[in-house]
Amino acid sequence: MKIIVTGSLGNISKPLTIALVQKGHTVTVISSKAEKQKDIEAIGAKAAIGSMQDADFLAETFKGADIVYAMETLGEGFFFNKNLDYMAAITNIGKNYKQAIHHSGVKKVIHLSSIGGHTDKGNGMLAFHHNVENILKELPDDVSIKTMRPVGFYYNMFAFIPTIKSQGIIVSNYGSDDKEPWVAPVDIASVIAEEMEKPFNGRTIRYIASDEVSPNEVATILGEAIGKPDVKWVVVSDEQALNGMIAAGMNPQIAKGLMEMNASRRGGVLYQDYERNKPTLGKTKLKDFAKDFAAAFNQ
Ligand SMILES: NC(=O)c1ccc[n+]([C@@H]2O[C@H](COP(=O)([O-])OP(=O)(O)OC[C@H]3O[C@@H](n4cnc5c(N)ncnc54)[C@H](OP(=O)(O)O)[C@@H]3O)[C@@H](O)[C@H]2O)c1
Repeated sequence: MKIIVTGSLGNISKPLTIALVQKGHTVTVISSKAEKQKDIEAIGAKAAIGSMQDADFLAETFKGADIVYAMETLGEGFFFNKNLDYMAAITNIGKNYKQAIHHSGVKKVIHLSSIGGHTDKGNGMLAFHHNVENILKELPDDVSIKTMRPVGFYYNMFAFIPTIKSQGIIVSNYGSDDKEPWVAPVDIASVIAEEMEKPFNGRTIRYIASDEVSPNEVATILGEAIGKPDVKWVVVSDEQALNGMIAAGMNPQIAKGLMEMNASRRGGVLYQDYERNKPTLGKTKLKDFAKDFAAAFNQ
């Protein structure tokens, strides 16, 4: 099949492209950077250089494709871009995808959404995923959409490194012995590659997770991996968490969105729909990711 992969050679899209090429599909990878072309071609895919912020480029690239994998991103470091209205920017990308899918005539879409995509209430920053899910739902009924809702990515834990280094602690406005799900991008890529070859029927939703561990277990497992078994997960108030992120230079709208997202993890509120639609867990466990964490910590 002819498949379009957005997300360049990113965390999900690189292993996804490799898997699809290995299965014999013709894959076009969208990157915003011309210098990525040779790396994309080196893994046996074609490159389309342009931006997901450009609806005409997307429509032209999608023409003739059997399936499009669509993900939204605002690029590296956007948390610290103080002039950004992330909600408006992501909504715009969602509208671009809708327009491009409609104009190109593509009938099968796999959309990367997120845990929290089921609502725009009380989930903070994740409300943008709900917005984009709703924008794509406006496409005509003959466009089948598989909505992927992965949980939090392990790589978010790299943000714990500074306070572990300075104080031996992980700091957040939630924490407990209650287990919560985490996922490895490579496991998301496997699920998406599998979904590419299964039938598309209307609109479907699939949650994706790799492991379930509590915040206190995260502290222990990461601490042991870096040779600091005393690392503790420390809970602060919403206000302290928000002020800490703003003091670190984060865009205030994003800091508020992250604080509210983490608040919704308390008592598992964020996970209510996941609990009703639990997936089989993927292969990559937190103990596997802890090796990457240790390497980054010691760099
Ligand atoms: N973090 C989480 O816990 C979490 C949870 C659920 C869902 N998600 C979703 O997962 C996404 C991240 O997936 P990922 O880790 O696979 O992505 P990623 O590796 O962070 O980024 C994918 C690539 O997209 C390309 N890109 C950036 N801006 C672009 C633009 N304007 N036009 C075209 N391409 C552009 C960049 O490559 P080039 O430089 O080559 O263009 C970038 O490396 C998030 O954006 C979010 O929607 C995240």
